[in-house]
Amino acid sequence: MSKVALITGASAGIGKELADIMAADGWDLVLVARRKEALKSMKDELSSKYGRKVFTFPIDLTKSGAAVNLNQLLKKNKLTVDALVNNAGFGSNGAFTDLPLKNELEMIDLNIRLLTELTHLLLPQLIASKNGILLNVASTAGFQPGPYMATYYASKAYVLHFTEAIAEETRKTGLKVSALCPGATKTEFFDVANMQNASLAKGKFSPMMSARKVAEIGYRGALKGKVVNISGIFNKILASSVRISPRVVVRKVAAFLNTKK
Ligand SMILES: NC(=O)c1ccc[n+]([C@@H]2O[C@H](COP(=O)([O-])OP(=O)(O)OC[C@H]3O[C@@H](n4cnc5c(N)ncnc54)[C@H](OP(=O)(O)O)[C@@H]3O)[C@@H](O)[C@H]2O)c1
Repeated sequence: MSKVALITGASAGIGKELADIMAADGWDLVLVARRKEALKSMKDELSSKYGRKVFTFPIDLTKSGAAVNLNQLLKKNKLTVDALVNNAGFGSNGAFTDLPLKNELEMIDLNIRLLTELTHLLLPQLIASKNGILLNVASTAGFQPGPYMATYYASKAYVLHFTEAIAEETRKTGLKVSALCPGATKTEFFDVANMQNASLAKGKFSPMMSARKVAEIGYRGALKGKVVNISGIFNKILASSVRISPRVVVRKVAAFLNTKK
């Protein structure tokens, strides 16, 4: 029996690498993102390289009703999902009052609303599957407040805490639930967030990890049901130090990292 993984934000970065890793490990794929051509070339590549079935649904997931539309497409194609990878997400950088509200709200729609809706729609089939995996991509940003990326950090705190809660609620079902918490990773993220010149984006403060490495850690952690999965030793130390440092220090360090050029 084939097992099917749905990956959001599969056209680039961590999601694209997860698609490759999961196809290599025998998963058929449902790939979702906005860029139709990028998804199409991934379909061609992954189906010929690994002989897996690959479905592509180009959808803007910030749009109201996107999760319901996606679920209808799954039903129309008679697809039952065994693994849900909620990876699509983006950030923005700047003083909150200077950032366009529309973009902040779309970020909440994608990073929080869509992830919650898709999880609610698909959780029963994930639990019913003997290969069930729920992998939500959070961030080390989820452990702390992030001045000058206020909405983004708060959205990732939601993803982290939501995922941990679902892990506990479903603990006895056999479903593997995992929140992947990457630190700075080399992807299009910093271009989209318009922070290419930030020291963080240049890896000056923390070593940048490759999207491939992060995806490998994420997939391995999900297979083991690692509920909180922080990528890399540096990021693990950083996340632990946040827990024991005074909040005022944590806020100031994050503000510095998010603004320093
Ligand atoms: N890079 C980092 O340093 C880092 C660190 C911690 C956590 N993360 C998290 O990792 C996840 C993946 O990000 P990434 O670093 O791989 O960034 P990325 O290279 O920018 O990839 C983001 C993916 O999300 C998709 N996406 C964005 N907006 C979308 C929309 N409205 N509808 C559908 N799909 C959309 C993009 O595809 P289209 O443009 O084709 O729609 C793309 O496939 C995100 O949740 C991010 O917050 C990243």
